[in-house]
Amino acid sequence: MLSSAMNLFVVALTVLNTAAAVWLLVWMRKRRGESRRTEDTTGHVWDADLREYNNPLPRWWLWLFVLSVLFAVVYAVLYPTLGNYQGTLGWTQIKQWEQMQAEQEKQARVILAKFANREPEDLAKDEQAVAIGRNLFANHCAACHGSDGRGGSGFPNLTDGDWLWGGEPTLIQTSIAYGRMGVMAPWAEVLGEQGLDDAAAYVMLLSGRKALKGDVAAGQQHFAQFCAACHGADAKGITAIGAPNLTDNIWLHGGSMEAIRYTIANGRQNLMPVQEHLGDTRIRLLAAYVISIGATRVAQLEP
Ligand code: HEC
Ligand code: HEC
Repeated sequence: MLSSAMNLFVVALTVLNTAAAVWLLVWMRKRRGESRRTEDTTGHVWDADLREYNNPLPRWWLWLFVLSVLFAVVYAVLYPTLGNYQGTLGWTQIKQWEQMQAEQEKQARVILAKFANREPEDLAKDEQAVAIGRNLFANHCAACHGSDGRGGSGFPNLTDGDWLWGGEPTLIQTSIAYGRMGVMAPWAEVLGEQGLDDAAAYVMLLSGRKALKGDVAAGQQHFAQFCAACHGADAKGITAIGAPNLTDNIWLHGGSMEAIRYTIANGRQNLMPVQEHLGDTRIRLLAAYVISIGATRVAQLEP
C-alpha cells in the first residue's frame, strides 16, 4: 500500500501522462490539414539549403498511438495501475504466484506419489529418488550443509559417516523432519582459566594430539566429573542427546586448542530447523539422498 500522498502522486502522474498523449494526438491531427503547404518547414536549415519539412505522421502510425492509449486506459481499469486502485480483475502478483505454486505442487504430487511410504534405505538405491533428493537438498539444505553436504563450521558434514544424532536411516529421517538442537552449557565459571586449559588439553589428547599448555591429568578428572555424562566415559559421544564423539578428530566447531577451549568455556547451542512442512515423502527422499552421499564417502574411505 502506498501512503496517500504517494498514491495521489502516482495517480496524477499516470492520468496526466495519458492526457498529454491524447492531447499530442489531437494536435498532430490538426496539423495535418495545415501542413499541406510545401513551404511549411520547421525553420531548421542545414548546409545552407537543407530544410526540414514539418510533415505529419502517416495515418496508420497515428492510429497505432491511438490504440496504445486505448490499451493503457483499458489496462488501467482492469489491473492495479493507478496507485492503490486494485483493478476490476482483482489480479495481484501474490495471487498469480500462489496459483503457479498450486499448479506446481499438483504436478509434483504426481511424481512424488510413487515414492510415498517407501523406506529411505530402499529409496537410496533408486537413482531417480536420489536425483530428486539431490534437487531438494540443493533447495532446502545446501545453504547450511553446503552444496556437497560437507557442511562447515557449526554445520555438520553429512558425508563423513560421523553422526551427532545417529546414522540409522530412521534417525536421519527424524533429524530432518523434526530438526535437532545440540546444547552444551558453558563451563567457564565452573572450571576457571586453568581448568579450561586442562580440559581443552585433555580433549586434544582424546584425538591423539598434544596441547602446548594445560595439565592433561587434571583435565581427565574434570572430564570424568563434568563431561562424561554427555560425551560418554570413553568420550565417543551419545547420539541420543547429540553429544559429539571427541575422539575421532572430526570437529563441528573447530579442532584447534583455541576453538575447543572456546566451546568448553562458552558452551554451544546449535539448531537444525524443523522441515516437517516439506511433507513426508520429500523428507524420505532427502533422507535417501543423505544416506547416499554418506555411503559413497564411507565406501571411498574404506581401503
Ligand atoms: C539453518 C541451517 C540448516 C538447514 C537449512 C538445514 N540444516 Fe541440517 N543441521 C543444521 C545444524 C546446525 C545441524 C546440527 C545440529 C546440532 O548441532 O545438533 C544439522 C543437523 C542435521 C542432521 C543430523 C546430522 C548428524 O550428524 O546427526 C541431518 C541429517 C541434517 N541436518 C540434514 C538436513 C537436511 C536434509 C536439510 C534440508 C532439508 C537440512 N539439514 C537443513 C543446520 C541446518
Ligand atoms: C549437557 C551435556 C553436555 C555436557 C555436560 C558437556 N557437553 Fe560438550 N557438547 C555437548 C553437545 C550436545 C555438543 C554439541 C553441540 C552442538 O551440537 O553444536 C557438545 C560439543 C562439545 C565440543 C565441540 C565438539 C566439536 O565437534 O566441535 C567439545 C570440545 C565439548 N563438547 C567438550 C566438552 C567438555 C570438555 C565438557 C566438560 C567440561 C563438555 N563438553 C560437557 C553436550 C555436553
